[in-house]
Amino acid sequence: MTVAERSGPAQATLGREIDLMDRYPRSKRPIDQRAALVTDEHRRIARQFGQEFFDGERLFGYGGYHYHPRFWQETVRRFRDHYQLADDAAILDVGSGKGFMLHDFRELMPRATLAGIDISQYAYDHALESVKPHLQVGCATRLPFADRSFDLVISINTIHNLPLEQCKEALREIERVSRGRAFITVDAWRNEAQRERLMKWILTALTYMHVDDWKRLFAEVGYRGDYYWFIPE
Ligand SMILES: C[S@@+](CC[C@H](N)C(=O)[O-])C[C@H]1O[C@@H](n2cnc3c(N)ncnc32)[C@H](O)[C@@H]1O
Repeated sequence: MTVAERSGPAQATLGREIDLMDRYPRSKRPIDQRAALVTDEHRRIARQFGQEFFDGERLFGYGGYHYHPRFWQETVRRFRDHYQLADDAAILDVGSGKGFMLHDFRELMPRATLAGIDISQYAYDHALESVKPHLQVGCATRLPFADRSFDLVISINTIHNLPLEQCKEALREIERVSRGRAFITVDAWRNEAQRERLMKWILTALTYMHVDDWKRLFAEVGYRGDYYWFIPE
């Protein structure tokens, strides 16, 4: 067994770098166009994670954050299969937005116990009714769950929105509430060209770094879950 492989909840090893988002649809991003137009004011408003970020103009964020099964349906299946989740597994999404990923988990695994937390009251108010009872507004730095509550904790493109010290807290919290399995994605780069593209693309993130520095950070805070990178193409 390699250091990256894990034998169960009590493992002391670090997690694996693994692209579990490989079935998520890729979009070509208009990076140069956005970089030329985005101002500090757009960033300030985007970081409020309100209506403008989700459903306002494109320069503030998503430019319309709508449910479509093509986004998460295959990816939740990937998570379930990779982590060999039982039908009644407990799954937490940190940064659950309008609950799109959890909705697709619910379709795939109707007996699962689902929970989602997100800082955005707007996202909660506009969440899918199918999963709204499982969602709450709150911060990744203080997860309102007991230690080892979840078989799998997922956090996609969320904790990098916190400043470094709070990002560390969020990682510790994800580790604390997980029974050993977690998967996160964060803004990162592997080389200078990727760093330059990311800098042009970033709207809300406050903590971003080279992949090796992220790995050092995971070790420093004791995050033992799996991880992958958001690197704009
Ligand atoms: C880029 S979106 C990703 C949403 C969702 N995970 C997805 O992949 O579609 C980032 C999300 O993080 C949420 N967020 C930002 N800061 C947060 C915090 N401190 N705690 C919890 N959620 C946060 C935002 O409201 C937003 O829903």
